[in-house]
Amino acid sequence: MPQDPPPAPADDPGADGCLRCGGAGFVRRARDLDDPLFGRAEPCSCILDETGEVRRSRLERISNLGALTRFTFEALRGDATTAGAQVRAYAGDPDGWLVLKGPSGSGKTHLAAAIANERIDRGEPVLFMFTPDLLDGLRASYEPSEGEPGFDVLFEQVRSAPLLILDDIDAAASSEWAREKLFQLVNARYNAALPTVCTCHSLTDALDERLSRRLASGAVLDLGGAEPGARYRQIGGMTRERLDDFGFRNFNTRLPNYRSAENESLQTVWESAHRFGDEPEGWMLILGESGTGKTHLAAAVANTVLRNGGDVFFAVVPDLLDHLRASFAPGRGDPGYDELFNDIRNAGLLVLDDLGPHTSSSWAIEKLFQIANYRASSRLPTIITAALSLDELREAHPRVAVRALDPKLSQHVAILARPYNLPPRSGAGRRR
Ligand SMILES: Nc1ncnc2c1ncn2[C@@H]1O[C@H](COP(=O)(O)OP(=O)(O)O)[C@@H](O)[C@H]1O
Ligand SMILES: [Mg+2]
Repeated sequence: MPQDPPPAPADDPGADGCLRCGGAGFVRRARDLDDPLFGRAEPCSCILDETGEVRRSRLERISNLGALTRFTFEALRGDATTAGAQVRAYAGDPDGWLVLKGPSGSGKTHLAAAIANERIDRGEPVLFMFTPDLLDGLRASYEPSEGEPGFDVLFEQVRSAPLLILDDIDAAASSEWAREKLFQLVNARYNAALPTVCTCHSLTDALDERLSRRLASGAVLDLGGAEPGARYRQIGGMTRERLDDFGFRNFNTRLPNYRSAENESLQTVWESAHRFGDEPEGWMLILGESGTGKTHLAAAVANTVLRNGGDVFFAVVPDLLDHLRASFAPGRGDPGYDELFNDIRNAGLLVLDDLGPHTSSSWAIEKLFQIANYRASSRLPTIITAALSLDELREAHPRVAVRALDPKLSQHVAILARPYNLPPRSGAGRRR
């Protein structure tokens, strides 16, 4: 096996006396372009050579967590527990950006610290910074006192940390100088695709506009402060009121004029949907002709989830695509933060109703795929309904189909029955 190239020597051995990393705990090596570790920071040998408690306390010191080491995923309470599962998945393998947004007391700092603690548990270096402290530190480092690192050293440490957590990123930027430094830092990490977690109160207020655009480009997890009624959101007309019309109880699986195979199919799909509602796990794809009850069952699941205290986004796909087309059209420049897009990505249950052979702009379809892909990677409960055959689905949405037909992620059911009709009564047409 070829030897790892040596890291560039540090200018200063730091408090831990390591000449390789200057006490930062990680190094960069001159790797080949095709090396998967190219451009990545790696734990320094001063960390790797240590084991057990020594390594742990060393990592804790480097992480700058201080008293926050008691904030673990296990210690989460209240609303933050829902977000916990998702954040935990990120902590297992930090990739890209994660923004935790929410009012004071919503558990942002706890979640952010839990990520850091998880990394330390895994023996990986992480750097946790309360943003106002970071900016103070940078300001002070222009005239470092004896034994303190100078500006370049500090800036570089933060810029290149394998995982950086910036708590309260919108708290501090008081001066023009501070805003500029913060943006430089965030921008450099963004360009280098280095895993970064930020917490903030808002993505729009008080933040430098360029900074908020960078932040909005990643996964944004809204920790709410959820006002009552905020748990159900929709686009395309399935209002909360309308949703109430669709339950499992009023879904008939014994229709008099139907063949027994049709009723059996209705019964099977009803059971699957019912189970999914009780314990939403992964995805469910419901196929069937128009009018066979797909929307009804998806709405029934949504009702169960809401009753159990979950949050639901019900999106009618053609309307969603219209929205995405309008928001993300090329030529609109950087679209910045789209609240709806973010809500859809992170909803506890997402219903994508009526995925069709839409002739939509490619960028709207691309955005739809991004939503699907994100939810697939995080295994977020998702129901897709489509009046399409399997072949049509694969043809119209190949990349969504791969996910929806992956048995490890998704179950798929088909309603093999005729469209449902109310018995003709005087004047009553088909209910919609
Ligand atoms: N098995 C069923 N029992 C009761 N009502 C049904 C059943 N199947 C469909 N419906 C009703 O028929 C109408 C059309 O169903 P819908 O769910 O919109 O079909 P799809 O989404 O498959 O096009 C709705 O009003 C729905 O409540
Ligand atoms: Mg429908």
